[in-house]
Amino acid sequence: MFRPLSLAACAALLLAPLAALASADPHSYAEPGRVRVTHADLDLQVDFDRRELIGNVTLTLDWKDEAAHDLVLDSRDLAIRRIVAVQADGKAGAALPFALAPADKELGSKLTIVAPKHPARVRIYYATSPQASGLQWLQPAQTAGKRQPFMFSQSEAIHARSWVPLQDTPAVRFTYTAHVGAPKALRVVMSALNDAKHPLDGDFRFEQPQPIPSYLLAIAVGDIAVRETGPRSAVYAEPPVADKAAREFEDTERMIAATEQLYGPYRWGRYDILVLPPSFPFGGMENPNMTFATPTVLVGDKSLTSLVAHELAHSWSGNLVTSAAWRHIWLNEGFTSYVENRIVEAVYGKAQADEEFLIAAHELRDEIGAMPENAQRLTPEPRGLGADDALSDVAYTKGAWFLKTLEQRYGREVFDAYLRGYFDHFAFQSIDTGQMLAYLKANLVDRHPGKMRWEEIEAWVYQPGIPADAPLPASPRFARIDAERADFLAGKLAADKLDAHGWNTQEWMYFLDRLPEAVALDKLQALDAAWRLTGTPNAEIGMRWYVHAIAGGDRAAWPAAAEHMTRIGRIYLTLPLYKAFAKTPEGLAYAEQVYAKAKPGYHPITQAAVERVFAKARKAGGKE
Ligand code: BES
Ligand code: ZN
Repeated sequence: MFRPLSLAACAALLLAPLAALASADPHSYAEPGRVRVTHADLDLQVDFDRRELIGNVTLTLDWKDEAAHDLVLDSRDLAIRRIVAVQADGKAGAALPFALAPADKELGSKLTIVAPKHPARVRIYYATSPQASGLQWLQPAQTAGKRQPFMFSQSEAIHARSWVPLQDTPAVRFTYTAHVGAPKALRVVMSALNDAKHPLDGDFRFEQPQPIPSYLLAIAVGDIAVRETGPRSAVYAEPPVADKAAREFEDTERMIAATEQLYGPYRWGRYDILVLPPSFPFGGMENPNMTFATPTVLVGDKSLTSLVAHELAHSWSGNLVTSAAWRHIWLNEGFTSYVENRIVEAVYGKAQADEEFLIAAHELRDEIGAMPENAQRLTPEPRGLGADDALSDVAYTKGAWFLKTLEQRYGREVFDAYLRGYFDHFAFQSIDTGQMLAYLKANLVDRHPGKMRWEEIEAWVYQPGIPADAPLPASPRFARIDAERADFLAGKLAADKLDAHGWNTQEWMYFLDRLPEAVALDKLQALDAAWRLTGTPNAEIGMRWYVHAIAGGDRAAWPAAAEHMTRIGRIYLTLPLYKAFAKTPEGLAYAEQVYAKAKPGYHPITQAAVERVFAKARKAGGKE
């Protein structure tokens, strides 16, 4: 369980203008109380030369307010060509006047379409910008196959508006259909039902029959092969990666079945996974029917497949029951992190699940005290918060920890039944923390008095920090690692005498996570000599190792660290290295050089995150 972005990495994201704070979702200009989009029909052409999507979207509208005069949509960097009302027979009707407001840095441009006659549908002709914040265009050299270009979207939190003009708020759900034209021989996939046997004829059609929020709109195009992993699951990946990915994710059907056992039927039909090139800025993204995933979890021993458990879990917590605004994102990510851990337990056993939870819990404990009080809350006050600011470890790990506490107090049997009922009750709705709490009170707390006081629940949800009695599992293997680490640091145990031959990924992560920030250089060198950490193919271990090596002045590790940073665009695995380098002037200069080479391969979000690290470091350096 790891946050995709650190709080600091989110600074540039989406400060809401104060005027918008009065509405339910301060990160959208849409006015869904007046008129609501119920269906989107996309007709887009993928142009790799121009790096743009060009075409139109037809939005079906449900007018709620008789007095409404116009339809307000979100957009960012879109070239809007023409907007028309669409008649019942599907023919384009009268052109509609529209105004595209100057862009707000965080929210993009408010698009106001004048439509006093309340047409049932409107069609917007538009093209995206090559800089669209929600798309990454890769040259063949940036792919595994090196022969074809690749393009993928990442809409969460508020980037769908950079490739489709729409009501970009999780409070609005709509179904969608799409017709996508692309170069022949490439495959187009979307967050919809995908047909593995679809001819690669440049002409793709999709349908997402379930109503979804805009942040789950997704598309990818490239040289993509398919490998079945089960009766309702497959892996999509570039041909050189496909077999490895299929082996790594061979337990997908067991995970789906385990989740169904706990929380009821999987309601989306197929569950496929698309493995992206390494520039994908996140670990995973729960796009319905087609999880998007980083290739950095393909380590050969399935030790990082909790990522699949996590994204699959969102098929219940998030995609089915969705937080209505970004400050309630813990309803998505906290619930999902809890469910993820239950899936891991069901498929890989309790010891593995406990190790994963302990790593996340220790990480949160270590960092939460240094966060501003507001950010320590599960439901932070919206004032001055960006859409992604609620996305720290707090939403993920404190959220999951709260649910673990409920499970412990009420017992598994009662809590599992409760949670299953919660998913059924709120299925296909977007809700806020208040609704979740009201349901909790009526269906768990009041029905089983004496297990947990309401004040305790309110403390978890509304207070900063972590309650002192938050339960933690015991892990005998981690306890042994604590002892070995202590002996190693005290000089009682040589690096090559560590009992690390059998350590799995999580055990290495735990060992490295809890080393002090500055370990003596000779100890680092001995560790590396004994266990060959520099150059490790496991990027979770690599990230942690390089941060120590850089902090400890182990220059021999710099080139391998640079290689890691250049190859991997996943923010969570790359940004810590930039931060570690930025702590000294020489390190900063080196990292700037690495970045100059790596930048063209990074997603716009990763670029922005790295540049913020540099800006902060230069400012701090300048003051000295
Ligand atoms: N929905 C998130 C990814 C996300 C959140 C993208 C907010 C943009 C804004 C996804 O489910 C997630 O949490 N991914 C994690 C992996 C996971 C194993 C914790 C990530 O990308 O690190
Ligand atoms: Zn998630």
